[in-house]
Amino acid sequence: MRIFEHIDLLQRNSFHVAQRAARLAEFDKAEELPTLFEQCRPEKWMVLSGGNNILFTQDYDGLLITPCGTDIEIVAENEREVEVEAEAGLEWDDLVQWCVERNLWGIENLSLIPGKVGAAPVQNIGAYGVEAKDAIRSVTMFVPESGNFLTLAAEHCAFGYRESVFKQNLRGKVIITSVRFRFSKEPNPILGYGDVIREVEARGGATLKNIREAICDIRRAKLPDTAVLGNAGSFFKNPVVDIEVAERLRSEYPEMPLYPVAGEGKVKLASGWLIDKSGLKGYREGSVGVHERQALVLVNYGGATGGEVIAFARMVQQRVKERFGIEIDTEVNIL
Ligand code: EPU
Repeated sequence: MRIFEHIDLLQRNSFHVAQRAARLAEFDKAEELPTLFEQCRPEKWMVLSGGNNILFTQDYDGLLITPCGTDIEIVAENEREVEVEAEAGLEWDDLVQWCVERNLWGIENLSLIPGKVGAAPVQNIGAYGVEAKDAIRSVTMFVPESGNFLTLAAEHCAFGYRESVFKQNLRGKVIITSVRFRFSKEPNPILGYGDVIREVEARGGATLKNIREAICDIRRAKLPDTAVLGNAGSFFKNPVVDIEVAERLRSEYPEMPLYPVAGEGKVKLASGWLIDKSGLKGYREGSVGVHERQALVLVNYGGATGGEVIAFARMVQQRVKERFGIEIDTEVNIL
């Protein structure tokens, strides 16, 4: 366990915003957490994982807690499936790579998503027709208020599109220490989204390696590398609207992309398309802009403050509202 005081967060958030925290503790093993809380007795704390989905608009005057354990363990196995427990501090993409090397199916479409394993269930990361919830069996966490560890089965995690109990009732109350996944030994390629099938076939067919490579190349072509350009992936969520609203827009814009949502007569629209069609793709004000290849992503060209990014985001929301009558919510956590 390592504790830092008055720490600079610039290298700890992918937006590269220069804010500071009063204290930050890194832990390797879950068992260190009770001692950490006894020692630090924080009045205010929160988890800062990879910092890939957060925008700091001010300094943080409490204790930030960063999981650093990276172990992966096979905990059960039969001829068809494997159950794996991964520690929260493991880079998500290292887990994907680990699976692909062992011929385990389930999260290959989630290749190259920035962030750590412990953050994956929080917003139920998803891409190219797959969500983390499809592979998650359970999530283990420390609950500082009671001093206990708790393991929650996936059925009780209230997973939805970029949603979970960790963003709702358990927000700010638990520290995820590990996640258990179930992966398949049998091939189960999911190639229905966008360009995936074409890119996979161009590589010679649906092997795990080809799918991973195809997804990595599609992402690299569209999404900015956080090491080069500060960003937090999709800044906005895709809005889920009533079918009537979608049909009204579709009659006016027949080329508008729509995605079905299971049950309840709802449809998901593409915020990237709405922002793009509002004329904002590549638009820049000072150090903040809409990414030129994917309008869902806001970027920090260098030196932007959190406040500047928020002001810019509000302008984008306003423009989409004026043009299409649709409200788009932020996906990134704003602090
Ligand atoms: N589009 C445009 N212009 C743009 C961006 C998108 O016209 O500037 C259109 C695309 O042509 C496509 C549709 O909008 O028809 C959807 O675009 P895309 O396939 O790129 O996906 P997305 O809906 O914009 C979501 C996720 C991404 C994920 C991709 C692929 C959310 C908030 N974002 O983006 O996740 O990689 O699907 O599955 O759901 C993230 O969460 O950080 C993230 C990058």
